[in-house]
Amino acid sequence: MQLPILALALAAPLVSALGMARVVNNCSDSVHVWSVGAEVTGPYQLGKNGGFYGEEFVKDAVTGGRALKVTRHADGLYTGAAQTIFAYNLDHASVWYDLSDVFGDAFAGKKVVVASAEATCPSIVWPTGVPPAGSQVKVCTASKNVVLTLCA
Ligand SMILES: *[C@@H]1O[C@H](CO)[C@@H](O)[C@H](O)[C@H]1NC(C)=O
Repeated sequence: MQLPILALALAAPLVSALGMARVVNNCSDSVHVWSVGAEVTGPYQLGKNGGFYGEEFVKDAVTGGRALKVTRHADGLYTGAAQTIFAYNLDHASVWYDLSDVFGDAFAGKKVVVASAEATCPSIVWPTGVPPAGSQVKVCTASKNVVLTLCA
């Protein structure tokens, strides 16, 4: 009887293992993050030089995906401040991810990167904090974290 129980215990974490969407603030000022889907959570203040936010990938019931919106101002989501938006969409075992700016470029002059912990997956790199033309959308396994690094 012992063997089947052991096998089940070992298998269970593999089935449910989902990565996280993370934002790491490597800038020299704090930033502010909201997690936006059907409902909004935040703001979360990320301290300078390494503050971070993370949430396990989740399929939003209404919008399908979620967006982590970053501003440099504490109330920036509501004052029209420049936002850098890390959007993700959990699709079974995969996660689609994208990076965009609205109301200006919050991190102009700084390097901004979105990368999976799975090194073979494509990353999004803005060398000067300004989005290039065209689609940025990438896809990777949802079992590994995907991280937006500010001032990389
Ligand atoms: C954080 O920023 C410093 C420069 O300010 C850079 O050398 C370093 O590589 C950055 N770290 C990460 C994880 O991006």
